[in-house]
Formats: sequence, C-alpha cells, structure tokens
Amino acid sequence: MTLPLMPTFQELLDPSLQPADIRARAKASTDPLDPIHLFRISWTNDEDQFEYRILPPELTGVAAPIVVMCAYRFPTGSHKVGPVYSCVRESLLAGELEDKSAKLVFPSTGNFGIGGAWVGPRMGFRSLVVLPEEMSAERFEKIRNYGAEIIATPGCESNVKEIYDCVNQLKQSPENKIQNQFEKFGNYRFHYQITGGSALRLVEELNQTNVLSGKVAAFVSAMGSAGTIAAGDHLKAANPSCKIVGVEPIQCPTLYNVGYGGHQIEGIGDKHVTWVHNVRNMDLLVCVDDQTCVEGMQLLQEGRDHLAAELGIAEDVLATWDNVFGISSVCNILGAIATARHYEMEEDQIIVTVATDGFDRYPSVVERIHQKEGPLTQKGALKRIDSFRHASGYWVQEGTMETRRRWHNQKYFTWVEQQGKSLEELNALWEPTFWSDQAAMTDEIDSAILKMRS
Ligand SMILES: Cc1ncc(COP(=O)(O)O)c(C=O)c1O
Repeated sequence: MTLPLMPTFQELLDPSLQPADIRARAKASTDPLDPIHLFRISWTNDEDQFEYRILPPELTGVAAPIVVMCAYRFPTGSHKVGPVYSCVRESLLAGELEDKSAKLVFPSTGNFGIGGAWVGPRMGFRSLVVLPEEMSAERFEKIRNYGAEIIATPGCESNVKEIYDCVNQLKQSPENKIQNQFEKFGNYRFHYQITGGSALRLVEELNQTNVLSGKVAAFVSAMGSAGTIAAGDHLKAANPSCKIVGVEPIQCPTLYNVGYGGHQIEGIGDKHVTWVHNVRNMDLLVCVDDQTCVEGMQLLQEGRDHLAAELGIAEDVLATWDNVFGISSVCNILGAIATARHYEMEEDQIIVTVATDGFDRYPSVVERIHQKEGPLTQKGALKRIDSFRHASGYWVQEGTMETRRRWHNQKYFTWVEQQGKSLEELNALWEPTFWSDQAAMTDEIDSAILKMRS
C-alpha cells in the first residue's frame, strides 16, 4: 500500500515549519480530495494566520475578552478531522492497518464521521461511518459525498450506546478497524498538542501585537468525545491558574447529575463520560439550554442587521461572522460567558473557546425555525440578544475533589461494565501522570513520521 505524505504534530501546529514545496502544493491544490490537504489540518489559514474572532463585549456583556478559535476552514469544515488523522496515523504506526482490505470504522455523531469519510480514502483505506439517524441532513450528505459507507443507528446525538452496540458487532469481522474517538488517545494528543498549542501561540501573538493584554484565564469546551477539552490540559500545564471549563446541555446533564436525555446540540452531550476525558483536571462544569444555542446560532448568522442596530456592533466585524458559528460553537460561547460571570473575570483574563464547525451544517435546522415562526423579527432578535448578554438559565458546578471523583467513577459503567476495560486501566486514569505521559508521546510520533518520510 502506498501511503500519502503525512504531516507531524509540529507541522500542523506551525505550518510554516512544513517543507516549502509541500506547503506550496497544499495551498495551491483546488481539489478538496487531494491528500496534500492533510497538511492543512491546522487552526491557521492559508496565509499562516490563526482563524479566530474576538467577541465584542456589547454581545457578551462581560469584561473578559472571549477569543473564539474557528474551525470552519479545516479541510472538512470542522476540527474533528484532526483527531481522525491522529488516530488513524497512530493505528498505522502501531502496525494495526497492514491488511490491505482493512476498512476504517468511525463511531460518531457527525463531524468525526465526516472527518473519517475524508481521511480514510486520503490514506488509502475504505471508511464506514456509524452515526445516529437523527443527525442533520447536511452531515449525512457530506459523508456520502466523500464516498464512505454509512450505518445509521437509532436515536439522536445522545444515543451513543446504540453506536457502541453496532460497533461491537462490526468488530467481529477482522477487516473492520475501529477508530473509537471516545477511547483512543490519538484524539487526546491532537487536541493537547494542536488545539492547546495553537491557543497558547494565538494568545501570545495577541499580546505581542497589543490586540489584547493578559493571560489565558480559562479554556471552555463542550464535551462530545471530550477530545477538544484536552487543549485545557496544555494551557493549564503552561499556566496553572488557567481554569478548564466543560459544557454540556441542560437537556442531557450527564456529568452534572448523572442526567440523560435527547437534545439539539449536535456533536456534544453524548450521555456518558468518555475514556479520554481527564475529569480530574476540570475546574468547572456549565450546562446550557439547547434551544438557546440553536436560536443564538440563528442570531449570529441571520440577525446581523439587528446586532448592528441594537448593539452598535461594527458592520466589518459582523461581516466576518458569516458561516463561522454552528450550534455547539454558540454553546461554547454561552459557556464562556457563564465562566466570565462565575469567576467575575476582568479585562486581562482571556477566555479561549472554539467554534467547532460553521453554519454550513445547519441551514436545515434554521429552516425548521422559519417553518414554525417565520423570519427572524426584531422581537425575536432582542430575545436572542438577551440570552447572550443577560443569560441566567445556565447551571454551574465546581470541580471539587468530590465531583471530580464522581465524574471519574461514572466511567466505570460504560467502560468496565460494557466495553471491556479492566479496573486497573480505569484506576490508572485517576493519576495526573497518566495524562502527562500521554501528552509526552507526541515527540516520539513525530520522529516516526519523519522517519517514514525520509
Ligand atoms: C460540532 C461539534 N462540536 C463539538 C464537538 C465536541 O468535540 P469533542 O468530541 O472533541 O469533545 C463535536 C464532536 O464531534 C462536534 O462535532
């Protein structure tokens, strides 16, 4: 099997380190299916600038600056292509994909599956995506367009148990190689190194250019597989006062109170505590309402005239928001606003969060609102603006030793009882050194990749 050229972590963190000919080819290629785009799995754009937006305080109602790193320009339109690449690459390096007939199986609620549909064939494999039948029509279409097979399991975003059951059946066939984002540390390592590393570099750059002045005071991320939140571990290792804040839907408050339920925030709230979530390092948990997130996305996409008229936000700022925020992006933003309020953060306390995908995945969701309520009115816009500026309906829980222990113990039911992990493996996850050891493996992986290229 001929493998494509594969980038290292360092080259994705800082694409200016990529060999000049490769970088030029990646920038020049207009074929979205060209494997050279593996080198564009980065938080920077083709001008080597970070893609981010700083939210105006008129919208957030808080003094702490909220910096949103934007993922809409990753090769598949979401940062989840990164963990896919990272997990597949580690399987390759471990010799698990020698069999030419190997089919990569991606359990997902959408964006990891879209990433899998794209990455698999780029690296010479067939892809099969397992996702719940109620995910948005746009997700199914993208997966099909990349040529992957699909198995649709019963239910919605939070029905991950049904996905696991399907994957356990698929495991019986040796050609199926399961890329389980919820348990594979390639997911953790990508976000620790690339998302966390990029957040550090971005804030340093914002300070150097006098755009902002201050330190990262919090990293906020809603959990799906809980890969993205690993960026917080990197930021906290660099600056121990940085808070790590997890977000989940009020309608499915799994960590908050062992809660369950369906909800509309695609990509997060998967009704279990994932194996790769370093719960002992999490400082705060915020739960937000799903309908507020959907309506907030509608406001940022369709209500920009209202935002200009009611809040005086400059047109040129609003123009940069087109297609940038999906539902879970708004969930993260609301979580960041709640964080600023909870800790009473000031202007020099920078909160970093992520817009994990753009609006291109959700026109059908907004269409449903139109069918029910018609176009966005001034009254509707004011209600949505209020939910950013004066949000009060969120729930907050501190990460005390007691809650952290409970979050850890919750892993037992999914992972030891159902998915075959041992108690020793579970107990190992409680130790902070387990996680720092995982993060430290990136250098070794980079060396192996460079050796393959030479
Ligand atoms: C749109 C969206 N937001 C957030 C997430 C959560 O990211 P993570 O799985 O890294 O926790 C996902 C994951 O699939 C997603 O698709």
